[in-house]
Amino acid sequence: MRATTNQTNSDSHTPALLDQFRRPMRDLRISVTDRCNFRCFYCMPAEIYGERYEFLPKPEVLTFEEITRLAKILVGLGVSKIRLTGGEPLVRADLAELVAMLAPIPGLEDLTLTTNGYLLAQQAQALRDAGLRRLTVSLDTLDDSIFRKMNGRSFGAQRVLEGIRKAEEIGFHPIKINAVVVKGVNDHTVVDLARFCKEHGYIVRFIEYMDVGNRNGWKLDNVVPSEEVIRRISREMPLEPVDKNYRGEVADRWRYVDGTGEVGVISSVTEPFCGECTRLRLSPDGKLYTCLFATIGHDLKATIRSGATDDELKERIAGLWRLRTDRYSEERTSMTTPLPRKVEMYQIGG
Ligand code: GTP
Ligand code: 5AD
Ligand code: SF4
Ligand code: SF4
Repeated sequence: MRATTNQTNSDSHTPALLDQFRRPMRDLRISVTDRCNFRCFYCMPAEIYGERYEFLPKPEVLTFEEITRLAKILVGLGVSKIRLTGGEPLVRADLAELVAMLAPIPGLEDLTLTTNGYLLAQQAQALRDAGLRRLTVSLDTLDDSIFRKMNGRSFGAQRVLEGIRKAEEIGFHPIKINAVVVKGVNDHTVVDLARFCKEHGYIVRFIEYMDVGNRNGWKLDNVVPSEEVIRRISREMPLEPVDKNYRGEVADRWRYVDGTGEVGVISSVTEPFCGECTRLRLSPDGKLYTCLFATIGHDLKATIRSGATDDELKERIAGLWRLRTDRYSEERTSMTTPLPRKVEMYQIGG
């Protein structure tokens, strides 16, 4: 595995905080709720997450003040980008207030959000006013009957498309669209989605279906390699590769030869990118995960609520990062037995 070069934090005299593979901490993904209004079969299958499923009770969920406090500490340790996720982040009440608390943090260069778009039209303006500038919407297909099946709630794509349009009108830029590609389910619709995004100036990213969590019945056979996705699109609308925007970007970028936009592919199954992984994830109940496939989270809520000082929290987090050795996607193929119990995707937001 490739090691990253030595880097420094914003204060050039402080040596950068690096993990065991010399990877710095850059990207924080904050899951603000474990609840979601969708039941995508690859994430929260409806037969498991029914009416009676017990999500986290409110007192267990970090408050906006607690989240902001941790975010400031993490930015002090090297984080420069924060992505709000869920579950579905827009089902958390007053999310724009959190955006307004995070956006001004000194040293935070990029604040963004991943949403399923269902509640976006009604919240886009408040989010924008609070300081959000760009966002990513998950939309697996434009085909209504397939979309209904995939989101497990029989919702058509119309309302999501209205959310995207509204966000665009208000000035969000860029708008990215994430589509998980599952063989035999939506893979025959990728070219249509690519064409639609090309016409509208959205950046679509096709994600290889991953074995996150323990409940989606994932099989390697259901994965469509990104190479195949690019081949299918390129056959109709020729593409050429482009360099990554930044070190550690998960998507490989391609642009249309005719100069009208770009497509990304996220190949965490066929071409893992752990070597450059600078991401960490905070769950709604305050656990810090150093890998999307982690089996344990480090409980920061208990530390905060026991009265720890900022310095104590900082030391604890720095200590965890220094010991980090995660590289699950690179190890997946050589594993003979599945991991005991991975965290679920909706608990840490992908
Ligand atoms: P930009 O900030 O726009 O570059 O987006 P991003 O690629 O950081 O964010 P996004 O949340 O849109 O990532 C897209 C998807 O890639 C996620 O939903 C996951 O499915 C997958 N992904 C993101 N980070 C990781 C990671 O660290 N490991 C693995 N295996 N997959 C990841
Ligand atoms: N494989 C790949 N991507 C997934 N996502 C959720 N579950 C999976 C999975 N099993 C994606 C969603 C969304 C983001 C939050 O994570 O589609 O874009
Ligand atoms: Fe909800 Fe996103 Fe999971 Fe779908 S993938 S169930 S929208 S959290
Ligand atoms: Fe990072 Fe873990 Fe994903 Fe590898 S599998 S890229 S270490 S989150």
